[in-house]
Amino acid sequence: MSVRFELNGEPCGFAGDPLTPLVDVLRGERFLTGTKAVCREGFCGACTVHVDGEARMSCLVPMAGLAGRRVTTIEGLVPPGAAHPLQAAFEAADVVQCGMCFPGMVMSLSAAFRDRPPASRDEVKAAMTGNICRCTGYERIVDAVLAGLAPTNASGAGGSDV
Ligand code: FES
Ligand code: FES
Repeated sequence: MSVRFELNGEPCGFAGDPLTPLVDVLRGERFLTGTKAVCREGFCGACTVHVDGEARMSCLVPMAGLAGRRVTTIEGLVPPGAAHPLQAAFEAADVVQCGMCFPGMVMSLSAAFRDRPPASRDEVKAAMTGNICRCTGYERIVDAVLAGLAPTNASGAGGSDV
């Protein structure tokens, strides 16, 4: 089976087993290793990317479902050399430890708050429910998200999927 889709703004092709998970193509064929493969069962959120602008766990997305779709990874979220406000906020707050969870968190949160900043702490927590961090306390991450997506900082929150 072959599939044509868009990857980080460029035309892309895949030929092979239609049930191949997107995360394996991203990492193994496209060398986009910012997308992490941790549980591979839809529990941790480390593999989260955008498909047509929506956050999806790429370990659960078979290539067969991607024909004509638009895939964005952490590498394509903002132009090369730029930092998404969430990335800048996480770095400023020094909340990243091993870093395995953070690309997925950025992808989940950037999709959830593309059009407006979070209205509350609980809204941030709800947007992160699919993303597990085994290192850093969640409260500090929520603080960083609220700081990074505050109205004065959030003009670039949506990245390339805006
Ligand atoms: S690797 Fe996909 S949810 Fe954990
Ligand atoms: S920083 Fe290690 S899993 Fe989140």
